[in-house]
Amino acid sequence: MIDLRSDTVTQPTPEMRRAIAEAVVGDEQKREDPTVTALQERVADLLGQEAALFVPTATMANQIALKLHGRPGDVLLAEETSHVLVYEYGGVAAHAGMVTRGLPGHAGRITSDQVLAAAEPSMKAADQRVSVLSLENTHNNAGGRVWPLAELDELVSTARQLGLAVHLDGARLLNASVALGVEPAAIASRFDTVTLCLSKGLGCPLGALLAGSRELVDRAWREKHLFGGAMRQAGIVAAAGVYALDHHVERLADDHARARRLAEGLVAAGITIDLEQVETNFVQIDLAPLGFDRAEALAVLRAAGVGLSATIHPTVVRAVTHLEITDEDVESAVELIPAVLLTAVRA
Ligand SMILES: Cc1ncc(COP(=O)(O)O)c(C=O)c1O
Repeated sequence: MIDLRSDTVTQPTPEMRRAIAEAVVGDEQKREDPTVTALQERVADLLGQEAALFVPTATMANQIALKLHGRPGDVLLAEETSHVLVYEYGGVAAHAGMVTRGLPGHAGRITSDQVLAAAEPSMKAADQRVSVLSLENTHNNAGGRVWPLAELDELVSTARQLGLAVHLDGARLLNASVALGVEPAAIASRFDTVTLCLSKGLGCPLGALLAGSRELVDRAWREKHLFGGAMRQAGIVAAAGVYALDHHVERLADDHARARRLAEGLVAAGITIDLEQVETNFVQIDLAPLGFDRAEALAVLRAAGVGLSATIHPTVVRAVTHLEITDEDVESAVELIPAVLLTAVRA
């Protein structure tokens, strides 16, 4: 199958497996794992932050960060389809005791005016207030959309004026930096905390990092223990992260080019895609004009050898390119997807 369901489906490459096998490891909880330490220092540097913490998942990185920034009863603002609001099982309520407020976005982005309006003090005398703003870049549910730097600047400076902490869910931050042609730090350094995921476009089996100031990362260590995420010889997986940062970052541009080629090929064949949306490695296909039931479309495509997946939008499915998808796969998908979807409609 040409597996375009997600960039999380990749297997470690033989070279990555070699790096894993040769990793020098130690007891991470005692901060004695040299490979974890090296990865943390490297990611802090890459993101323009003082320190970073290795955790098993990007969800845990987000949850720890948001818990550091908000007290029970505080309000978290985020775009309404962002990962922290939709897919993290209400963790912000469970772990941080925060109230969430989702703001409608365009391409996954919200505006300063929306934040200003949402942060307006309530009539209550008690101190119930918006205290945290979380942004996502690239934005998953918007189809891998990228924040222009000027918009980020404006929003972060508004948040600072309001005294809000700002977190970036940068699970796919390196896709954004490659798409914009800027250093990751040019995006990430303006935030209080930043999540970076290793198991998406970077192709690692697992792992994520939470970066921030030394003080916040010291506090994050405590939360990591509390979450049960403090590990032992974790260098086994951190080694994959170090390998990926050496070998799998620049090539993200290939994933983006393949997504663009796939989108343009499908549009030329009569499939409905908003080409403006295709900024990184996601292609969102709208089935509405075909009148095709989504579950059925996914099933027939899979039977024909192409794996796509559902999105939060009821009629939209997505194709995501990643390091196992070749130019030949893209050409085959450009043939197969219209053949299946358009033939079935005609039948
Ligand atoms: C934007 C974003 N943030 C966070 C996550 C969570 O990653 P994980 O499943 O590794 O916890 C994902 C996963 O898809 C994501 O797309």
